[in-house]
Amino acid sequence: MREQYIRKLQKEIEKLKEEKNAVLLVHNYQRPEIQEIADYLGDSLGLAKKARETKADIIVFCGVDFMAETASILNPDKKVIIPSPEARCPMAAQLPAKLVKKAKEANPEAPFITYVNTLAEAKAEADVCCTSANAPQIASALKRNSVLMGPDRNLAWFTEKETGVKVIPVPQNGYCYVHKKFDAADIMFLKEEHPDAVVVVHPECDPEVQRLADFVGSTSQMVKFAHETDAEKIIVGTEIGLIDRLRCELPDKTFIPANKEAICIQMKKNTLEKVRDALLYEKHVVKVPEEIAKKAERSIISMFELMK
Ligand code: 13P
Ligand code: SF4
Repeated sequence: MREQYIRKLQKEIEKLKEEKNAVLLVHNYQRPEIQEIADYLGDSLGLAKKARETKADIIVFCGVDFMAETASILNPDKKVIIPSPEARCPMAAQLPAKLVKKAKEANPEAPFITYVNTLAEAKAEADVCCTSANAPQIASALKRNSVLMGPDRNLAWFTEKETGVKVIPVPQNGYCYVHKKFDAADIMFLKEEHPDAVVVVHPECDPEVQRLADFVGSTSQMVKFAHETDAEKIIVGTEIGLIDRLRCELPDKTFIPANKEAICIQMKKNTLEKVRDALLYEKHVVKVPEEIAKKAERSIISMFELMK
């Protein structure tokens, strides 16, 4: 019954998408039934790139607020809609614009890199933006001895370790509540239980968890690693939605969640019903005030420039 209902909703969405020349951009943590109908499924960086390139009139963004905001900033003339306006990343809210300004005043020599997981107002005050896929590349490309980065403290730690550039975290203790759920002792236990498994984790995990990993990277980089490694068993330290994608793409490999309870409630607010209604009624439109959008766009474009 549920299966039939899902297929019916998916068909309705496909039809509406065609009628309205809409594109469905989907993050790797979305529910599997939404992943299945994505025009593009990926990490924050891949999604921002796709949003920049699309010729569609409407972008339906199945992810959280900051991702849809980024798509809207890059496409001021397009309609960007998010199925659930409640899908708001709590970590993004940990870096208000005033904290960026204050940190820059206190460290005038250090450019501010905002993680893409921030609200537009923070990006507007920063020098450049980064994602989990390119934070070390951006920090190195700036060619400075020290940089400011926020809000995720663990991404700042990872970037410093990878580059040797001093990375000052702003705020001191910004974190993602989902990635805080991974524990080094649990991973050590899983490694003992599965000695032939490799470990992949997201850079939002604590340093002691990252140290146990064979690979640390963005969600799409983890997918790439899983495709390329010879290992047949992989312990995964990120939100469980990624495991849905991995199991679908690599049915012959075994994926072991490092914590089954690592669920981002906000990412799961989007449902097929809400995607259908979003397209039908063209709601909820994401729009960033023009003045903020223009400044935030500069820091997103600087990221793309520094990646060349
Ligand atoms: P990625 O850009 O690696 O997909 O990460 C986004 C995110 O929200 C991680 O918690
Ligand atoms: Fe935000 Fe963490 Fe959810 Fe990613 S997993 S959207 S950082 S709360």
